[in-house]
Amino acid sequence: MTKKIVITGCTKGLGRALVDEFLALGHTVIGCGRNPEAILDLRFGGHGASSFDVVDVTESKKVELWADRMLTQHGAPDLLINNAGLLTPPAPLWRQNPADVARLFQVNLVGVVHVIQGFVPAMIERGSGVVVNLSSGWGRSVSGEFAPYCASKWGVEGLTRALAEELPAPLAAVPLSPGVIDTAMLRQCYADGAADYPKPEAWAKVAAPYLLQLGRKDNGLALTVPGF
Ligand SMILES: NC(=O)c1ccc[n+]([C@@H]2O[C@H](COP(=O)([O-])OP(=O)(O)OC[C@H]3O[C@@H](n4cnc5c(N)ncnc54)[C@H](OP(=O)(O)O)[C@@H]3O)[C@@H](O)[C@H]2O)c1
Repeated sequence: MTKKIVITGCTKGLGRALVDEFLALGHTVIGCGRNPEAILDLRFGGHGASSFDVVDVTESKKVELWADRMLTQHGAPDLLINNAGLLTPPAPLWRQNPADVARLFQVNLVGVVHVIQGFVPAMIERGSGVVVNLSSGWGRSVSGEFAPYCASKWGVEGLTRALAEELPAPLAAVPLSPGVIDTAMLRQCYADGAADYPKPEAWAKVAAPYLLQLGRKDNGLALTVPGF
């Protein structure tokens, strides 16, 4: 069955690879990101009913307008994936730039709240759907030099598990660690060492079907994409 999938941060990395895989499987994708060239590339890719927009998840009013327009056009999504995220440059916490740290929490946590507030009421009204919030291994363990990122992903885990208690059955919310994949974000952590990790395209071949089968049975569980 064709599904409607909302995904944030679809312009590169894991988000873009998931979009390509979902489209190849015949699903309708409603994606956003900040990079206008990458969004135009998706828009002109001939992807039928799918929609791609330039939206910064930190801008609550724009997220609200985007969600309203997408809900009118497509109806409530079957799967809502909060994938957009960022890192601050590696440094001990006492040397982290406060503006960068504030921005990280705005994207990794507050942005997730904006998107949930935009789409989840319609999913509840329709009576089905799954929310997946991208966490990290560092949302369950920690790593020096990445304290703000770890804190944001531990926050994603807590936020998602609490949301899972709130959602009426059969809706579900899942914090998902993707594993470790060679993206621009991983290059910020491991520099050239990131090349030793799997590529987003190979990851998405496993992750997309895995995401599509998530349901109430998984509500509130801290999951990881198998094999990664
Ligand atoms: N790669 C890994 O090994 C790994 C491991 C654990 C967790 N994760 C998580 O997986 C998710 C994807 O990571 P990735 O590795 O694919 O990172 P990435 O290559 O840096 O891609 C991040 C995506 O997020 C988007 N984004 C950033 N800020 C945004 C904003 N304010 N509004 C809308 N979109 C925004 C970016 O788009 P624009 O540049 O167009 O804004 C981009 O499409 C993140 O949540 C990350 O924390 C990744």
